[in-house]
Amino acid sequence: MDYYAISLFLILFVACGYADEFLFAQNYSPLWGGDHLSVLDQGRVVQLLIDEHSGAGFHSKQDFGSGYFRMMMKLPGNHSQGIITSFYLTSIPVGGQATNHYEFDFEFLGGHNPKAYRLNTNVFANDKGHREQQFRLWFDPTADFHKYELFWNQYYIVFFIDGTPIRVFKNNTNIGASYPSNSMHIEASICNSTAWVGPVDWSQGPFIAHYQGFSIDGCNYDTLNPEACNDWNAGKDRKLSPDQQRRYHDARKKYMVYDYCSNNSKKFVECLVDIPVEERIEEDTNSAGFNPSSNWDENLHT
Ligand SMILES: *[C@@H]1O[C@H](CO)[C@@H](O)[C@H](O)[C@H]1NC(C)=O
Ligand SMILES: *[C@@H]1O[C@H](CO)[C@@H](O)[C@H](O)[C@H]1NC(C)=O
Ligand SMILES: *[C@@H]1O[C@H](CO)[C@@H](O)[C@H](O)[C@H]1NC(C)=O
Ligand SMILES: *[C@@H]1O[C@H](CO)[C@@H](O)[C@H](O)[C@H]1NC(C)=O
Repeated sequence: MDYYAISLFLILFVACGYADEFLFAQNYSPLWGGDHLSVLDQGRVVQLLIDEHSGAGFHSKQDFGSGYFRMMMKLPGNHSQGIITSFYLTSIPVGGQATNHYEFDFEFLGGHNPKAYRLNTNVFANDKGHREQQFRLWFDPTADFHKYELFWNQYYIVFFIDGTPIRVFKNNTNIGASYPSNSMHIEASICNSTAWVGPVDWSQGPFIAHYQGFSIDGCNYDTLNPEACNDWNAGKDRKLSPDQQRRYHDARKKYMVYDYCSNNSKKFVECLVDIPVEERIEEDTNSAGFNPSSNWDENLHT
């Protein structure tokens, strides 16, 4: 091996061997909330705390055009009704306005106990969103860290929980659907929204979420050459593997409790294709009692 081969070997080895040991400050920085964000364990863990005065949030330093974006999260364990803990990709510049934009969200809606947690996923595609799909979780998200992941390339966007795909949003531009074409960055936050999920019982707080695993496996967006990200992993990542498809259908059948395509399907062209009939569910039957589409707060995260 010549010098370059050896250095490349070392770089790859280090990058792969310690993927989850990336420190917060390498890829992220605090966004809002002041001392409600704490960096712990020498940068390996971040704690976001919310009380009646403030929540907190952080963001990635870079913009991306494609990639695998993941976060290990442990959600607030106390009686967390009204608390929203999130991890998402957004095209809104930090401090910018939430007008027609792109965004993919993991939003965990707290409840009276850990079993009542609902995962709200949403996709904004140059518009106001309202593409919610909600899920129950098959584990206690407050007891341990779990991996929440978004994959995005020019073919599709996939939401994963611990490696199981739960939602696929395809590039259906050929039938007139919108699909993200802007650069995006990662944000994460803990917040409350009385209008959306009701008031919080602050006497149960403070509510604390933990995040770890700060590596990012994405294509850095280059304004001079935005197409450079188009082929990112295109060969192997054009569709789910047969095993992933099986787990995807299984998870949706068992855990999906709300699907915008069952409610608004005429408004969204993507709902007219790709979704097997047996997967569609009736009106929201979740026990938390909130209405996912009403009172959507466009500025929820800021
Ligand atoms: C629950 O609330 C207490 C304060 O009453 C706080 O010390 C604790 O960290 C909270 N637990 C979690 C998991 O958020
Ligand atoms: C969506 O797919 C089409 C091919 O069907 C492709 O030309 C286009 O670049 C893709 N859009 C994005 C934003 O990746
Ligand atoms: C969050 O809770 C605080 C304290 O109850 C309240 O003043 C504030 O309006 C809530 N925020 C939102 C966006 O509902
Ligand atoms: C269903 O869609 C209508 C309008 O398209 C909306 O007003 C309503 O809130 C939606 N229902 C749910 C449960 O999201």
